[in-house]
Amino acid sequence: MTKYSEHIKKAAEILPKGAFLTTKHNDKINTMTIGWGTFGFQWGVPTAEVMVRESRFTKKLIDGSMEFTLTFPYDESMKAALSYCGQKSGRDCDKIADMGLLMVDAKETNTPVVACKGLALECKIIAKTEMTAELTDSSVLEKWYKNGDLHTIYYSKVVACYEMD
Ligand SMILES: Cc1cc2nc3c(=O)[nH]c(=O)nc-3n(C[C@H](O)[C@H](O)[C@H](O)COP(=O)(O)O)c2cc1C
Repeated sequence: MTKYSEHIKKAAEILPKGAFLTTKHNDKINTMTIGWGTFGFQWGVPTAEVMVRESRFTKKLIDGSMEFTLTFPYDESMKAALSYCGQKSGRDCDKIADMGLLMVDAKETNTPVVACKGLALECKIIAKTEMTAELTDSSVLEKWYKNGDLHTIYYSKVVACYEMD
C-alpha cells in the first residue's frame, strides 16, 4: 500500500470522531469541526469531499477561497478544541484564538493547517454541488434536514498529505 493510501485510511477512521476544516479568505481564518466526508479518486486525481451547511460561516470563506485544509488529530489532545469549533461560529468569535490553536503555513495552499500530532490534507476545490430537496430521498430529508439548511458538497483535489508531530 502506498503511503497516501495509508494516510487516507487513517483519515477515514478518524473523521467520525472529528477533524478540523480550516478556511481562509482575505485575511480571515476560521476552523470548524467536521464528521462527514469521503476520500477517493475522481477526474484522474486523488480527492477529498466535505459537506458544509448553508448556515456555516465556513461556507462564506470556502466559497471565497475555493480551498481548505483538514487536520485529523491522532490523540485526544484536541478533544476540547474539536468540541468548541463544532459549536461556536467564527461569525461571533475567534475560535482559533479562544482555544489557543497553533496554525502553521501549508505547503501548497494559502490556507494554514491546525498544528497537532496528526494528519494534514491540503485541498483545492475542483467542483461543488448544492444539495436540493427535490433530488434527496425523503428519509434523509426527514432525518437530517427538518429545518432545511442543506449541505453543499465540495469536491477537492488533495494537493498535499502528510503527518505532523
Ligand atoms: C463532531 C461534529 C461534526 C460536525 N460535522 C459537520 C459537517 O460535516 N458539516 C457541517 O456543515 N457542520 C458540521 N458540524 C457543525 C459545525 O462544526 C458547527 O456548526 C460550527 O459551529 C460551524 O462553524 P462556523 O460557523 O465557524 O463555520 C459538526 C459538528 C460536530 C461537533
